[in-house]
Amino acid sequence: MGGTTSPLKRHSSPYSLTTKLFPYSLYALFLLLPIALFRFCFHPFSSPTNPTHPSSSSIGKVVEFCSYNNGRWVHDKMGPLYNGSSCGTIKEAQNCISHGRPDIGYLYWRWKPRRCKLPRFEPYTFLALLSNKHIAFVGDSMARNQLESLLCMLATVSEPNLVYTSGEDNRFRTWHFASHNIVVSVYWSPFLVRGVEKSDYGPNYNELYVDSVDERWTADLDHIDMIVLSIGHWFLHPAVYYQSGSVLGCHHCKALNHTEIGFYGVTRKAVRMALETIIERKGGNDGNGIDVFLTTFSPSHFEGEWDKAGACSRTKPYRRVERRLEGMDAEMRAIEVEEMEAARLNARRFNGRVRLEILDVTKLSLLRPDGHPGPYMYAFPFANGVHDRVQNDCVHWCLPGPIDTWNQIMLQVIKRWNVDSRRVVKLMP
Ligand SMILES: *[C@@H]1O[C@H](CO)[C@@H](O)[C@H](O)[C@H]1NC(C)=O
Ligand SMILES: *[C@@H]1O[C@H](CO)[C@@H](O)[C@H](O)[C@H]1NC(C)=O
Repeated sequence: MGGTTSPLKRHSSPYSLTTKLFPYSLYALFLLLPIALFRFCFHPFSSPTNPTHPSSSSIGKVVEFCSYNNGRWVHDKMGPLYNGSSCGTIKEAQNCISHGRPDIGYLYWRWKPRRCKLPRFEPYTFLALLSNKHIAFVGDSMARNQLESLLCMLATVSEPNLVYTSGEDNRFRTWHFASHNIVVSVYWSPFLVRGVEKSDYGPNYNELYVDSVDERWTADLDHIDMIVLSIGHWFLHPAVYYQSGSVLGCHHCKALNHTEIGFYGVTRKAVRMALETIIERKGGNDGNGIDVFLTTFSPSHFEGEWDKAGACSRTKPYRRVERRLEGMDAEMRAIEVEEMEAARLNARRFNGRVRLEILDVTKLSLLRPDGHPGPYMYAFPFANGVHDRVQNDCVHWCLPGPIDTWNQIMLQVIKRWNVDSRRVVKLMP
């Protein structure tokens, strides 16, 4: 740690996200809980995205098709594929063990879906299925968190070479796996649509242009074969929204003379805009096809104050019955699930050139209050005793940790797609 400012600077983004997020999460929760409860009564744990595969039995041995979002966490003595020393690409603030987190029980759980088994991540299978492809993670720091989990698991068998980096805090990066000629990249785009993030120099709120995609990632769409979208928490911040050149409304913006419209409708518009753009550009005759994942909202677990010890200090998962999906978590997930369903219908006309799947991780993540860095976002936070104030990250996930499961599920879907496409080929006369 060189200069006096660098450690602070390095940690500035999770810090500011957490600090500024917390009040708005609560605000959103209490303001919008009635709506969520209303929804819940009519669609209790509905899961519109999991149609039964018509011929799952014939391929049952190869790839089970099941609904991965319902299940429970069970003990697993195998533990993760990697650790904080063996993987060199973990963001420091999420390298919990190397930052002195004392309990390691949280590493020994696996997700058991209700009706099937979720296999451990198979790095060789992933690399084989995605040979010569470009996989892009697009979104906020949760997209990056998931990307870093994937890199660590792949790195156990093949070395990623960092070939490009740009932006504050390495927000745009690309790796190349020479063994299988695979490109993996991450694009910072916390709204998916064009946005100006609040800053110390500009306005103290975000500005979003809901009818205009963020060209920072769409400009590269031609070269992307698989895309993983992951957004959510940045929509909770104060913001002004623009559509068709005028102000649509704003959120948490008392000082401004605009109509408060909350953030759910805008989240929906942004997701829709992103999916429609991908489908249009990749599905048509000029497009070269694409596989699309949308990772659903990842719940945070603040139980106390964000800057006090114990903000998220649990060391075990919740049992399934202990927590139900509700409030903002449920609402954000529902928006993503619904928009993905609409996108799948929209993409049908392109005969499978655009494959879309929701990565429905909200519930399984909700059950893991033990998986966050908490105070270990900083190295050895209690080295000089427990102080009054300690910053906590109860939003992102330790690596290794529960977020590895997201990529396990993603691989199962990719395997199923591969089997499906082979079957199509075989059926042809
Ligand atoms: C991390 O993993 C490496 C490689 O598997 C192993 O050699 C090392 O002992 C592990 N370190 C810890 C602290 O578990
Ligand atoms: C706020 O908007 C209202 C309605 O458009 C307008 O009448 C009023 O003058 C505005 N106030 C300020 C301070 O701009």
